[in-house]
Amino acid sequence: MIFVTGATGNIGRALLGELDARGAGPLRGLTRDPARAALPDTVETIVGDLATPGSWTPALEGVRALFLPSRLGPDAEIIAAARSAGVERVVLVSSITVQTHPHLGPAAENLAVERLVKDSGMSWTILRPTQFASNTLMWAATIRAGDPVRAPYADTGLPTIHPADIASVARTALTEPGHQEQTYALTGPEPITARQQVEAIAAALGRQVPFTEISRTEARAGMAEVFGPEAADAVLDVTGGAVNDELLTVHDTVERVTGSPARPFHQWAEENAARFR
Ligand SMILES: NC(=O)c1ccc[n+]([C@@H]2O[C@H](COP(=O)([O-])OP(=O)(O)OC[C@H]3O[C@@H](n4cnc5c(N)ncnc54)[C@H](OP(=O)(O)O)[C@@H]3O)[C@@H](O)[C@H]2O)c1
Repeated sequence: MIFVTGATGNIGRALLGELDARGAGPLRGLTRDPARAALPDTVETIVGDLATPGSWTPALEGVRALFLPSRLGPDAEIIAAARSAGVERVVLVSSITVQTHPHLGPAAENLAVERLVKDSGMSWTILRPTQFASNTLMWAATIRAGDPVRAPYADTGLPTIHPADIASVARTALTEPGHQEQTYALTGPEPITARQQVEAIAAALGRQVPFTEISRTEARAGMAEVFGPEAADAVLDVTGGAVNDELLTVHDTVERVTGSPARPFHQWAEENAARFR
């Protein structure tokens, strides 16, 4: 039995689809909202909230392998519950910022979760992805309205990753030998800038999408309102304000682990064009 938390997310949904297609079942997927979840029929939908362990820990019974994106809930309790239920293997989604920007708050939190997993006694694989192609969905309402996308650091190219590639690496680590006690830095196949991402979405839509570069100060004002000032600064640093060679590096891990090359951003844009229409 494989238990996928974050089952309705960018990675989790692709992961369950891939596990299902390969007959890797039985499978369980966790959601807080079964009405919206629409998981495949072959997946047992578990309704629960990671913040309330009693709501979902009974579903750990019989589970051999756990997929866990970090920081969705109280990770120490989640990992301890998995261990005491007899889970043998855990695949954790952390972040590349653990190695590129360890001084930032979210990176330090991810490192702490990595340590919990390593010390848990379960066998582990840690995935450290860079920024996701799906982050551009934050522009979806603007693009649907025909307004200009406004973003800072327009010409900083980062090797953005397709979430399905993270899912493919996770599927491999959950079901095949040779990935235990491994930490994988995961990126897309090439750097792509915010301006180029908007161009790729425009090409997928078959129409112009205007783009306006804004200053860090302007971007920070809006982001700080939603996420708080520290998180806003952390995001702005890793998307352009304080990038470093390590964050710019393209890693070939996706291809090495899965045997298939990492998917380019334009593929994600084509697959998700309807969400911008
Ligand atoms: N975006 C990036 O650039 C980036 C970069 C590096 C690492 N990461 C990491 O990637 C992970 C996010 O992955 P993703 O994009 O696949 O997720 P996502 O699309 O943001 O979806 C979040 C998922 O988490 C579930 N969830 C949230 N809170 C929950 C709770 N309290 N109890 C149970 N389930 C809960 C949601 O399920 P329901 O709503 O159905 O309950 C949903 O399936 C995070 O660990 C993040 O730190 C992201």
